[in-house]
Amino acid sequence: MSRELKQIPVVDLRVGMYVAKLDRDWLETPFLMQGFYIESASDIDVVARYCKHVWIDFSRCPNLADYPETDPTVSHSQGRYSTQVTFAQEFRRSAPVFKRARALTKSLLEEIQFGGGIDSQNVNETVNDCVQSVIRHPDALTWMSKIRDESEYTADHCLNVCILAIAFGRNLNLPENELHKLGLCGLLHDVGKMQTPADILNNPGVLTAQEMDIMRSHTVHGRNLLLKSADVYSGAIDVAFSHHERADGMGYPRNLAGNGISKYARIISIVDAYDAMTADRCYQKARTTSEALKIIYKERGKQFDEKLAFKFLETVGLYPVGSIVELGNGIVGIVIETNKKYRQLPRVIALRDENKQKLEKPRIIDLSFTVSGELASEYLIKQVLKDKDYGVSVRDYQDTGWLNYGKL
Ligand SMILES: [Fe+2]
Repeated sequence: MSRELKQIPVVDLRVGMYVAKLDRDWLETPFLMQGFYIESASDIDVVARYCKHVWIDFSRCPNLADYPETDPTVSHSQGRYSTQVTFAQEFRRSAPVFKRARALTKSLLEEIQFGGGIDSQNVNETVNDCVQSVIRHPDALTWMSKIRDESEYTADHCLNVCILAIAFGRNLNLPENELHKLGLCGLLHDVGKMQTPADILNNPGVLTAQEMDIMRSHTVHGRNLLLKSADVYSGAIDVAFSHHERADGMGYPRNLAGNGISKYARIISIVDAYDAMTADRCYQKARTTSEALKIIYKERGKQFDEKLAFKFLETVGLYPVGSIVELGNGIVGIVIETNKKYRQLPRVIALRDENKQKLEKPRIIDLSFTVSGELASEYLIKQVLKDKDYGVSVRDYQDTGWLNYGKL
């Protein structure tokens, strides 16, 4: 295999890269001498503790090297979107958007459950509000989507998939009308679950083969429900039917494979799985964002479209807003803004001190100051924590009060 080594700074490391050479002796590090793949955010953190530069063998990660130029299904004009406002500005502006969208999603699903149709105008207006907010700044609605109500799982999940799919489409540089279509696909992908009996939907145990068939039939029910409703975007009907198909052909209901699955269904399949994995369910506790991203990475080319899976990892980033993180010095806080250039160095609102005691006055720490040395390296992120670890929950900071803790 011909080696295409390229030196890069550690801050540019991405999941999927193959590290072939370090800027120091391998023996001084815990890494394998023959090289290794970066599989998660924590791998990058470990490398950052030892090295400033590494050499990547791009011949061993060809799909990554391809991005985004050579894939016509994901590559569009470069730099279509730029963030137009600060996170704090968009947070204030989109809070009522999120509230309205949440109420609409809940009533939409209730209507469907009781045999009613879909109010397409209302749905279109709501998705449009979400698209506009995500275009202005993708982090604000993403933050709000971290607030979940376990009893409203399906409604919250549908709205979250809508928001995250729009953010994914934005990162794919899809034009605005496609972001709108993707949002519709996300919002409506699981409507068929309104016909799944609650005792199966909320069963904390292992489903029997027959129960599993009933659960899986939500794809068929979803398609049929949407077919009956006038004015529903046809792509959303396909996605409701096909979002559980797998790249390797082992999905359902039709065992479609690869590009036989529509692009939007391949996109929603990834977003759907990510959102489901990061939520508390009756049968499993929520995984951290890092754990969920690691699974998506492992399932690339099997459950998920390989190139889209890589692109999704890039969209969510190492530490998406709302991630609860522990720094090297023990401080615990929540990521409040991502950093496009230094992806592992976001802005964090510190809520617990080095001894995990509650900080009376939370403060905002910009981890990118570790690059210039203004901030010590002990402030680098050590690990991602679960919601409620050390008593920190995103839910407690959903109001805008925390925005007053410092200049954002
Ligand atoms: Fe589903």
